Amino acid sequence: MSKKATLLINNQEFDFPIVLGSENETSIDIKNLRSLTGGVTTIDPGFKNTASCESKITYLDGEKGILRYRGYSIEDLSNNASFLEVAYLLIYGNLPTQEEYKKFNDDIKKESIVDEDIKKILEAFPKSAHPMGILSSLTSALTAFNPSSKHIDYDRSKSELYDTIVKVLGKIPVLIAWTFRKKNGLPLDYGDSSLGYVENILKMMFNKPNEQYVQNPVLVNSLNKLLILHADHEQNCSTSTVRIVGSSHAGLFASISAGISALWGPLHGGANQAVLEMLESINEDGGDTNKYMQKAKDKEDPFRLMGFGHRVYKSFDPRAKIIKVATDEVLNDLGIVDPILDIAKGLEKEALSDQYFVDRSLYPNVDFYSGIIYRAMGIPSDMFTVMFALGRLPGWIAHWREMRLRNEPIGRPRQVYTGETHRPYSPISDR
Ligand code: ACO
Repeated sequence: MSKKATLLINNQEFDFPIVLGSENETSIDIKNLRSLTGGVTTIDPGFKNTASCESKITYLDGEKGILRYRGYSIEDLSNNASFLEVAYLLIYGNLPTQEEYKKFNDDIKKESIVDEDIKKILEAFPKSAHPMGILSSLTSALTAFNPSSKHIDYDRSKSELYDTIVKVLGKIPVLIAWTFRKKNGLPLDYGDSSLGYVENILKMMFNKPNEQYVQNPVLVNSLNKLLILHADHEQNCSTSTVRIVGSSHAGLFASISAGISALWGPLHGGANQAVLEMLESINEDGGDTNKYMQKAKDKEDPFRLMGFGHRVYKSFDPRAKIIKVATDEVLNDLGIVDPILDIAKGLEKEALSDQYFVDRSLYPNVDFYSGIIYRAMGIPSDMFTVMFALGRLPGWIAHWREMRLRNEPIGRPRQVYTGETHRPYSPISDR
């Protein structure tokens, strides 16, 4: 195959190198486009055709439904690994040895203490505040209590970066659990350093005053799986946000806070909450799935089938397949019969054979079934996206670190200006 691409602009030819990925993905390197052509740019709203970087972290093939972290399949990892092993893998490139794992785990535990003053900020939020807004604010506030993480100069302070990474993984679960407890009127819980990472999160969230929290292995396993399935997804909206914020050399807490805000929207991580609310309203409306299928296809109707469709998956989302099986297992294990699961399955069945959905390659995505498991675990729907954020922490960290290690330039896209050309100011009395 030719190793260059030729562009013909106004009868003049320009050659650009072809970059091949390790799975043979082909990309045209246009880094010198403007300088070679005297200012020509490309336009690609939503970056549907633009690779913003080279990355060694996650490979996904949307046509074949393949997702791999550092070469390991998502099926293999979600069935066999612990969330912290996967976090280490994503951030540092290889699965940890026993020694590396122990140190990573111990260091995260040591950093699972949140400054008492953060509680005062938490207390100031109204009860109606959305947990994603609280989490984003508190994550940003952590910078004030950890000043060395403000601007990490990568070359000089590798150990400071490591310290900041274990702080993020240690402190953010505490913020999440506290946000949950405050909303539920429960006193804040400080966790238990003798517990595993996932067990500790469950205990910090659900422990009742004056009661001994008993771990349920079904919940531990399913939360571990959900966190792994959400841990990274290459250059999605929130991860690209984290990379671009970090590209100005803003610190890790500030960049992750921006990622949390990007994740919040219903077209991205907020879809898990939107799916459950949609399923509930279909249920309350009598469970007529066909009515909602028609609404989703009607271009005059703003309704979309939440949890369906994906920018990159055009066959199926491998995470959705795993979560669908896990949903059945969890509900069976817990003895829960949820009518909403039947509605979800009914919608999926109809969509898979409906021409509109088939023509547009719209399949259930990761968020279609995840809310049903979270609900079975006792997590309210406005906390679903927060749980997604918890899972996505390793991915955000890994991309932020990779971007800084590669010394990538500050992110600053171009635009095609389509506004007014130059015009003189007219005094207000003349208008
Ligand atoms: N319901 C009905 N129609 C849909 C849906 C849907 N959920 N998703 C896409 N379509 C239609 C669009 O109307 C469009 O139709 P057209 O070609 O006739 O105009 C076509 O499919 C392509 O859709 P786009 O919005 O152009 O695709 P894009 O790649 O920009 O958006 C997205 C992808 C945002 C995920 C979209 O499918 C969507 O809004 N889905 C619902 C929200 C959701 O589940 N988001 C979570 C994604 S996973 C994640 O972020 C973790």
